[in-house]
Amino acid sequence: MAEFIKPFPGLIPDRPMTKHELVRAIRMDLAAELEATHLYTAHAEATDDKLAKMILQSIAEEEQVHAGEFMRLLEILDPREKPAVDAGREEVNKIACQLVGSYDIKGLKCQ
Ligand SMILES: [Fe+2]
Repeated sequence: MAEFIKPFPGLIPDRPMTKHELVRAIRMDLAAELEATHLYTAHAEATDDKLAKMILQSIAEEEQVHAGEFMRLLEILDPREKPAVDAGREEVNKIACQLVGSYDIKGLKCQ
C-alpha cells in the first residue's frame, strides 16, 4: 500500500524534482487515484442513500479517468513504461486467448 503521509516519501522536497523523482511521484499519484477509486466504490456499495451512492460512483469513475491520465503521463515521462505495460497486456491477452469463448474482449486478436 502506498504511503500518503509524506508528500514525497523517499525524495528531497526542498528543490525541484529530478525527472526520476517526478516519475516516482507520479507513480504515487497513480496509486492514490486507484486507492480513491476503490474507497469511493466501497463506500457507494456500503450505503443505501441514493444520492450519496450516485455521487460516490460518479467520483469513483472520475478517479479512474485521473488514473488513466497518470498512466499516460508515465508513458511520456519514462520511456520504459509503455514497453513494460504493453508486455503485461500481451501476457494477459495470451492467457485470454486460451480461454476464447469464456470472455468477450473487444479488440482481442488470437492466433
Ligand atoms: Fe483524482
